[in-house]
Amino acid sequence: MKYEKEINRRKTFAIISHPDAGKTTLTEKFLLFGGAIQTAGAVKSNKIKKHATSDFMEIERQRGISVATSVMTFEYKHFLINLLDTPGHKDFAEDTYRTLTAVDSVVLVVDSVNGVEEQTRRLMEVCRMRDTPVIVFINKMDRDGKNRFDLLEEIEKELSISLHPMTWPINSGKDFKGVYNLHDKSLLLFTANTKADDDSIVIEDLNSPLLDEKTGEKDAALLREDVELIDGVYGELNVNDYLNGKVAPVFFGSAINNFGVKELLDTFTRIGPTPRDRETSKREVAAGEDKFSGFIFKIHANLDPKHRDRIAFLRVCAGKFERNKYYHHVRLDKDMRFSNPYSFMARSKDVIEDAFPGDVVGLFDTGNFKIGDTMTEGEDFFFTGIPSFSPEIFKELVNKDPMKTKQLEKGISQLTDEGVAQLFTQFGGNKKIIGCVGELQFEVIQYRLLQEYGAACEFRTLPFYKACWLTSKDQKKLEDFLRYKQQNSGEDKDGHPVYLAQSEWFLNTEIQNNPDIEFHFTSEIHK
Ligand code: G4P
Repeated sequence: MKYEKEINRRKTFAIISHPDAGKTTLTEKFLLFGGAIQTAGAVKSNKIKKHATSDFMEIERQRGISVATSVMTFEYKHFLINLLDTPGHKDFAEDTYRTLTAVDSVVLVVDSVNGVEEQTRRLMEVCRMRDTPVIVFINKMDRDGKNRFDLLEEIEKELSISLHPMTWPINSGKDFKGVYNLHDKSLLLFTANTKADDDSIVIEDLNSPLLDEKTGEKDAALLREDVELIDGVYGELNVNDYLNGKVAPVFFGSAINNFGVKELLDTFTRIGPTPRDRETSKREVAAGEDKFSGFIFKIHANLDPKHRDRIAFLRVCAGKFERNKYYHHVRLDKDMRFSNPYSFMARSKDVIEDAFPGDVVGLFDTGNFKIGDTMTEGEDFFFTGIPSFSPEIFKELVNKDPMKTKQLEKGISQLTDEGVAQLFTQFGGNKKIIGCVGELQFEVIQYRLLQEYGAACEFRTLPFYKACWLTSKDQKKLEDFLRYKQQNSGEDKDGHPVYLAQSEWFLNTEIQNNPDIEFHFTSEIHK
């Protein structure tokens, strides 16, 4: 394998969580460990927080929400780690879903007080679809949280994943004493703001009086009882099960206190996957192949009128990406080269000469790319597994200025290529329907259409709740259905038929009444 050394030192992952569970705080601690930022002890400051999350879009500055997805690269123990940031705000969940297609594993942060929350559930669904390896970090152990066993049970049940505790907590909240590392057989006592140095105490045998000495008799007895129970249930972690997305190792800690974070990072670097092989429309592409290939998973437009640039995020999947070398844009059947590809690290953008599997490269784009586009050294294939999910809010796009119809059409076409929203055309009446995950995106679209394309629009709410992509072996039945359900059907941007359901009840009824038609909840089927 030509680039073995580079591939084996790379780990590309994302941290996902429900907002406020502690994703930003954990990210900062990781960056501190990696020496990428030097602001130890100051994580409470909002200023640093803003810089640590790479929010280079104007809208984010205005609203204080992480809209952008960007990449933070740091080195830790000879590993090169690419941490892909995901927006915390639920209105931008679609961005997060797409980012999950570009990573090889995820760290899921769960708040020990709130347990599994809505956003977590949805993100995990995406991980499961792709068998993404997951490590769980149960955060905020310094607060009175749920019972540790109940919490694990809740996570297992709600997220349909088997858990494997790697550390075990001793109490929580005021009485939180620390964690016992089941793998290293060591005790880590809780102190607020733990330093980066390892000050864990090795306790091979839990019956050792050292444990009583360190935690007190009562808590030592409790820990012994707990560990006996969990050892019996879980045994040793099977790393392959983790890598196949079947089992998720679990850590307990407190991100704000930098407690339990190093254990998590150490295990992640030890067992976390290196760039994985990827499925394409033609064959599996191995990360170690000589020839370059990669795909666009995110397109980022700068909303600042002074810096109108569009950046396509390319995940390198195989081979070596090189500056100024011609690559093949498969969808457009066009060769392109990039003179200024760059790597991301918050605001500072460095032009790079090359990049390897697992890396993310920023490419300046003048409208050539859309989400899911594949670049190769000439071979024709598409990377698969980059689905669109059904939007949750549907509105009709109404043109407010008939003189600007062309601009509006161009604008909406480009914005939907970027993945800001999905565009459907209704069969009965030719209405242009915009589907988004959150209300905020409609504001973004309205603002951008006006600022960038000079087109004024407004939105009219439509009573749909879900879009399903339709296929059938019986083309006639599908056509009849679409004709009969004109008001509720249309096509997506690529011309694929879609059913727009008013409610779950309508959807289930149609599914039951039309056994020859398949209703799909993602667009992936068409790749
Ligand atoms: P997010 O990115 O997932 O949305 O969460 P973020 O890290 O911003 O954390 C949300 C809040 O939880 C922050 O408090 C943060 O300080 C707090 N937090 C994170 N980790 C821990 C922990 O281990 N224990 C406790 N008790 N709190 C934690 P905030 O008041 O919203 O912001 P700030 O003023 O502290 O910055």
